[in-house]
Amino acid sequence: MPIPKAELHLHVEGTLEPELAFRLAERNGVELPFDGVEELRAAYRFDDLQSFLDLYYRLMDVLRTERDFTELAEAYLERAAGQGVRHAEIFFDPQAHTARGVDIGTVINGLGAALDRSEAAYGITTRLILCFLRDESAESALATLAAAEPYLDRITAVGLDSAEVGHPPVKFVEVYRRARELGLRAVAHAGEEGPASYVWEALDLLEVERIDHGLRCLEDEELVARLVRERIPLTVCPFSNVRLRCVDTLADHPLRRMLDAGLVATVNSDDPAYFGGYVDQNLTATAAALGLTEDQQYTLARNSFEASFLDEPTRARYLAELAAHREASESDSASVSVPVSVPA
Ligand code: ADE
Ligand code: ZN
Repeated sequence: MPIPKAELHLHVEGTLEPELAFRLAERNGVELPFDGVEELRAAYRFDDLQSFLDLYYRLMDVLRTERDFTELAEAYLERAAGQGVRHAEIFFDPQAHTARGVDIGTVINGLGAALDRSEAAYGITTRLILCFLRDESAESALATLAAAEPYLDRITAVGLDSAEVGHPPVKFVEVYRRARELGLRAVAHAGEEGPASYVWEALDLLEVERIDHGLRCLEDEELVARLVRERIPLTVCPFSNVRLRCVDTLADHPLRRMLDAGLVATVNSDDPAYFGGYVDQNLTATAAALGLTEDQQYTLARNSFEASFLDEPTRARYLAELAAHREASESDSASVSVPVSVPA
């Protein structure tokens, strides 16, 4: 059984597998510029964040109805259950849909229908995080938040994603202030391709509680010291970092250095349909590439629950489940018989 964990950095639109994309394209009469699943999958080779985003936004065109969004989220939850996910905090990008004429209510109600069934169907509790596209204007973000107000009971937090460089957090101070007034919590992508200064801004100006990615914090000792001291979680996405060429190979990934520095790192899948694996695959492949100990792998899982927006009783229940998983795995390995050499 995979280690129980929370997934805190997952774009639901990034879970759109080629097979589902083609099925929805056919159902909705949308023309895709690829001649089948294999050709589409072969296009999943990226030079940087922007080259990925171009395909990610293009493929979203197949998502049109509430049912489409429900099926997308259900497909993710079903896969996540098989990866040991017990709690998922799911990003969505409303502006990528409203710009195509899809109403924000269609998106939120469609996702909401899947999330409402998630605990009973898959044993996964969920939260929804509304992300603003940072390469759109601050006015567009404010209008998006206003349009989401009738659905706030479904939304836990706001986030900030899309093309990072040239779009610093300072651009979104007003919309984050308004989100706080509405009782929403806050996270932001920072330090993925952008500089460490964007991480400082996200903390100081947007008052976020977690940093998504945060890779480039390692370039700034004072920033690392602050993240450690204040126990600000980083939602790290190893496969994404390699596929988008933020890091050369998995063996070069700084996750182990992050843990050694005392950072509250978690492992997540970001856009698993595009980056070659879901969250447990990220965890096990990265652990193997970096030689992470069992202890470090359990620390990552514990961090994921501690960094989540769960209520305290549910968090305590998951942490107890994690401790029981560890005990069971230790007694399993203790009972494996070690061959004893018999003197001749
Ligand atoms: N949107 C989806 N995935 C993203 C990523 N890794 N960075 C920024 N925006 C995104
Ligand atoms: Zn992301």
